[in-house]
Amino acid sequence: MSRRPLIAGNWKMNGLLSDGTALAQAVAQGGKDAPCDILICPPVTLLGAVKSVLSGSAIQLGAQDCHWQEKGAHTGDISPQMLVDVGCSHVILGHSERRADHGETDSQVAQKASAAHQAGLIAVICVGETEAQRDAGDTMSVISAQLDGSVPQSATSENTVIAYEPVWAIGTGRTPTAQEANQVHAHIRAHLHGRLGDAGTAALRILYGGSMKPGNAADLLAQPDIDGGLIGGAALKAEDFLSIVAAAKA
Ligand code: PGA
Repeated sequence: MSRRPLIAGNWKMNGLLSDGTALAQAVAQGGKDAPCDILICPPVTLLGAVKSVLSGSAIQLGAQDCHWQEKGAHTGDISPQMLVDVGCSHVILGHSERRADHGETDSQVAQKASAAHQAGLIAVICVGETEAQRDAGDTMSVISAQLDGSVPQSATSENTVIAYEPVWAIGTGRTPTAQEANQVHAHIRAHLHGRLGDAGTAALRILYGGSMKPGNAADLLAQPDIDGGLIGGAALKAEDFLSIVAAAKA
């Protein structure tokens, strides 16, 4: 089964109005007729402005986190319904930086993903091992536990994308080999088979994230179980991001 690749830019805490909208404009311009789906996830302050820039383009808009409740007394938080209201179709959840900076647990990630699903958003759920866990040979068991804890019962191949992001590869310039990454992707797909069944597992998109760049993207994206990328640093330069987009072929 061929899965249409998804290349997602995670801008993290980067971008002010002028440079953020210029970046979105350049991606929208250069991403016409792309061989894959494109998603950009700017900081929440830029969602409205970037949505305007993307109007008329096929590029989708996502946020980097959300709360699990629809509204209420949660100072500083943003609900899934608010993200839908501003034009988001996706939300990244459980990124390792949120797990580390904000102590997010698997069960909170599952709650957020479930709320995102209810609001009609596609949840991009992140999992990944630390370097110590990898060195101890625990990668597959760590990933299995994160999937069990972070992927809610409501998940389907339509409303969920998994991002495999080895923590030690994020922002470091280091990556697993394409084959090593693919083995983890195949493990993720197999592990979710009990929940998603044959068709769901075959349709599920699993992105690789962690120092994906123009120089290594084609190799990673050529792997059978790697269905796209979640790009951090290289998503901040239109030229680099678009070169990764060009490397993604169905
Ligand atoms: P990076 O980040 O591409 O800068 O390594 C990826 C991510 O954290 O999503």
